[in-house]
Amino acid sequence: MTPGADDPDAWSRRRFLRAGAALVATPVAARLAHALGAPAGLRVRRGGAATATSVELRAAPATVDLGGPIVDTWAYGGAVPGPLVRVTAGQPLVAVVENALPEPTTIHWHGIALPFDMDGVPGVSQDPIAPGGSFTYRFSPPAAGTYFLHPHVGLQLDRALYAPLVVDDPGEPGAYDEEWIVVLDDWTDGVGPSPDAILASLTAGAGGSPGTGMQMPGMSMPGDGPAATGGGSMPMVHGTSALLGGHAGDVRYPYYLVNGRVATAPTTLRTRPGARVRLRVVNAGAETAFRVALGGHRLRVTHADGAEVEPVAADAVLLGMGERVDATFTAGDGVFPLVALAEGKGGAARALLRTGSGRVPPASSRPRELGGRVLTAPSLRPTASSRLHTRRPDRDFRVVLRGSHHPYRWTINGRTYGKDSPFVVDIGERVRLDFVNRSPMFHPMHLHGHSFAVLDRAQRAGARKDTVIVRPGETVRVDFDADNSGDWMLHCHNAYHQEVGMMTSVYYSGA
Ligand code: C2O
Ligand code: CU
Repeated sequence: MTPGADDPDAWSRRRFLRAGAALVATPVAARLAHALGAPAGLRVRRGGAATATSVELRAAPATVDLGGPIVDTWAYGGAVPGPLVRVTAGQPLVAVVENALPEPTTIHWHGIALPFDMDGVPGVSQDPIAPGGSFTYRFSPPAAGTYFLHPHVGLQLDRALYAPLVVDDPGEPGAYDEEWIVVLDDWTDGVGPSPDAILASLTAGAGGSPGTGMQMPGMSMPGDGPAATGGGSMPMVHGTSALLGGHAGDVRYPYYLVNGRVATAPTTLRTRPGARVRLRVVNAGAETAFRVALGGHRLRVTHADGAEVEPVAADAVLLGMGERVDATFTAGDGVFPLVALAEGKGGAARALLRTGSGRVPPASSRPRELGGRVLTAPSLRPTASSRLHTRRPDRDFRVVLRGSHHPYRWTINGRTYGKDSPFVVDIGERVRLDFVNRSPMFHPMHLHGHSFAVLDRAQRAGARKDTVIVRPGETVRVDFDADNSGDWMLHCHNAYHQEVGMMTSVYYSGA
């Protein structure tokens, strides 16, 4: 549709595009100028006129109790995670965001194929929300699933600024008795160095030898390990994972959390033996992949990144930053730990399932399922409803991921954000991206505003996802349809990689 002069969406879109163009004198400005040339061409999707869900999200400094440690941080509504946002697919969500932080912020609705002007990228899809300001997001999530929301500004995600977002399918049978939403996080704010101090430390070694950067308690950096003290630049002794194909991360967090609780004070799902439970797991961590298992149970994985997959049994699942998994299980009788191992880092987050009497296992216990069959994204198959139809791609882009720890620099096709060249496509095209990882570390690559099909070795369309782990030395091929015009960020969901510029975009206008 072409928005008319009396269309409030068209008005607000032009307003912020103009404001944004005036603000930013980078290639972003060029993109915006381009968009300004055809503002009416950006497609606007509308939900039905039915019942809107209204939520208020106030981002503010807060003191929160993680189940022992009391920390000063930034949070939504004073809670970690922020309040669950729940809406029905196709129905409008109205979210009023108030910024009581000392910095600008936005909200990005991770995984939702929403209209571009609601995507929450400052300087690209909207003006940042200034301290003391507010912004109202309005959109109708088109597809059911498990998502989450977080700011798209600096390292704010590595504080408490994240919340689960569930989009319900009105037609789903809901063949379960309980729902268990499990949000995972790696935690440092208020107990270890702040995210900004960690970034400063990571980048301080630029050009220097390992270990010359400021060392901080609670942090592990390449160079800490004995094997690296000889002046080698990579990698470290600890912090590797076979599942991740090598180096697992640069930050060893003081705590790992499930639903805002440390492992010694776990959140508990209480239900009866035999209850059918639907688990929704979100990795909201900034720098940590998690391997998740429930002691004494096998999981039946049903969704990846919100989209249906052919149900498959697993002992454990691996989630990169930004990934989500839904699974079901039938609760046994007793007390069982749900453990999220910080993959390759050693620590763990945990929650408990309690259906009867029994001793609570010690916080250090590791269910044997963690060592069983670990399901990873490439082995997932789509269902009839989530399968991307076969079509020859109109565009085929190589997305080469490179980087180093010394200096701390991560790039896409040799460039950092701001000096990048966006992938320009046309509306209606089938687009292929080949993520080629030539770096020593895994990268969970995330595309805004779309879901892509991960292709398997036989070039068949696998599971639909919006975030996919690309291991060192690996090439991961994904296809998607350019059916939602805008300037859509494509980036690594390691918050520190993203912050130093491991980000570009897929750009298209037209209706
Ligand atoms: Cu959850 Cu641009 O990210
Ligand atoms: Cu990365």
